[in-house]
Amino acid sequence: MELAELQTQLAEISRQAQAAAQQAATIDALRGAESKISKGPLAELLKSIKSFPAEQRGPAGQAINQTKKAVEELFAAAQARLRDAELTGVKKLAADFDPTLPPPSVPRGSLHPVTIVQREVERVFVGLGFSVVGGPEMETEYFNFEALNIPADHPARDTQDTFWLTNGWLLRTHTSPCQVRAMQRFGPPLRVIAPGRCFRYESIDASHENTFFQIEGLLIDKDISIAHLIAFMKLALREVFHREPTIRLRPGFFPFVEPGFELDMRCEICGGSGCPTCKRSGWVEVMPCGMVHPNVLRHGNIDPHEYTGFAFGLGLTRLAMMKYGVSDIRVLNSGDLRGIVNPQRLAGRTIRAG
Ligand code: PHE
Repeated sequence: MELAELQTQLAEISRQAQAAAQQAATIDALRGAESKISKGPLAELLKSIKSFPAEQRGPAGQAINQTKKAVEELFAAAQARLRDAELTGVKKLAADFDPTLPPPSVPRGSLHPVTIVQREVERVFVGLGFSVVGGPEMETEYFNFEALNIPADHPARDTQDTFWLTNGWLLRTHTSPCQVRAMQRFGPPLRVIAPGRCFRYESIDASHENTFFQIEGLLIDKDISIAHLIAFMKLALREVFHREPTIRLRPGFFPFVEPGFELDMRCEICGGSGCPTCKRSGWVEVMPCGMVHPNVLRHGNIDPHEYTGFAFGLGLTRLAMMKYGVSDIRVLNSGDLRGIVNPQRLAGRTIRAG
């Protein structure tokens, strides 16, 4: 190569370096552009010194090194410029920041529909003189079955299959074990409700889940009759739904009540014309109930000749579905309510968080 040709190439490299240094918007981009030039064309030229006639190698090397230095300085200056600009930006931000302004608002979530309904039912029954009690989700066979007049070989056990624990306990299949626990603990007369999570070994579909919520209710006193039961139930449902619910009562069998009933409510989803949620019947079972069986009173250390009472099990999950128009029970455990909860029914109620 001739010196003249070398000069042309070096001039072109300088031009490229200038353009690149001007264009780069970040320090990283600058570093990239610089190494591309120094490791690319400049390195090539340095290697080519060997091809110059011996007496020209000195001046050629000098010329290349000069350009190399100039390129380095060019990029160093560009880096310093960018740093300055960044610093000014940060300073400006700091100057603009007003620590006295309120923070940006975070959208508030809502209570879970089941929690909303649970609190409403609690409010209604507390108003009727009931106390709210709890019980363990991990229950003994005695409280879940035996004490409720369901001995080991009773066919009623088949309808409430559940998750058994290695210590012989089980996940409670209903809130009814709270009945005898409350009787033993407080004695008569008694008015309690016991809300809580229950479990069953179910195959899951739009109306069955392995985890759901109930509220148990129990009233024990002297001379309590079915008339009291019906009056309390109607009052409670009217308070929860803020209007007169259409209900019907049919006989129902539960070993721990005698007589036992199924209390059905006109389906709120289809208005009674029939839909998948009410299995096309127009009615939904919301409240199995009945007069407490004498054997259960005895397990609770209460004399059935002196006291009588009624009990009910409110399907809280089902109630929330009816109230908010949730047509698939699975969404209530999923945390994603988009498009499934009827927004009109939830409107105005979701903000009651806290
Ligand atoms: N524990 C019963 C169930 O889960 C419901 C029930 C409660 C029935 C109280 C009668 C009285 O199926």
